[in-house]
Amino acid sequence: MELLKRKIELEGRVISDHVLKVDSFLNHQVDPHLMAAIGKEFAARFQNMGITKILTIESSGIAPGLMTALELNVPIIFARKRNSLTLVNDLITSTVHSFTKKETNEISISNQYIVPGDKVLIIDDFLANGQAALGLVDLVQKAGAEMVGIGIVIEKSFQEGSNLLRKEGFRVESLVRIKSLENGRVTFLQEGVSTRYEQII
Ligand code: G4P
Repeated sequence: MELLKRKIELEGRVISDHVLKVDSFLNHQVDPHLMAAIGKEFAARFQNMGITKILTIESSGIAPGLMTALELNVPIIFARKRNSLTLVNDLITSTVHSFTKKETNEISISNQYIVPGDKVLIIDDFLANGQAALGLVDLVQKAGAEMVGIGIVIEKSFQEGSNLLRKEGFRVESLVRIKSLENGRVTFLQEGVSTRYEQII
């Protein structure tokens, strides 16, 4: 997605060989026009698949997930990482270990909002080691629903998550794929052709 690549080139800051800071448009301040374009792009990539729910995880998955949900005209559910005052009964839970942050979180959703018969699209902001995505897949499976695919805003293809998820047979659509963050530079994987949504605009 060229628009997103340009935004990363202009505003992204390489913090280390493994971490890209995009606080100006995705992880802290959020660019609503970019999120709207991201929602259209995911909706185009996953159109006509009968998706009934979007599932993401708080907090940075919510903005791109919401715009995708708006385009597909379905609700979005965000998994919580912390206990909620009101979300206490009938929880579906999974465990996510972050190798980056060296912490383990229990993530949860209510069993009211993803139910057998649902076709679920998972959306998240970053794909690094794939543990958050696998935790979300686990929630969908425990809910007895069908997992249709995984949409990722920024994939760091040099970390193991992308291979792990594709090897499991999941359909993964990443809007940009980063080959390397070495030498303080973002190098994208060459994609070749533009996507359907980019051809439309
Ligand atoms: P994984 O789920 O793919 O295994 O990823 P990992 O544990 O490594 O990532 C943990 C957190 O760090 C996630 O956010 C993820 O989005 C974020 N993250 C991973 N790599 C990068 C990166 O290069 N840049 C930025 N900006 N974030 C990265 P989180 O803790 O859930 O935060 P948030 O959603 O509340 O913002």
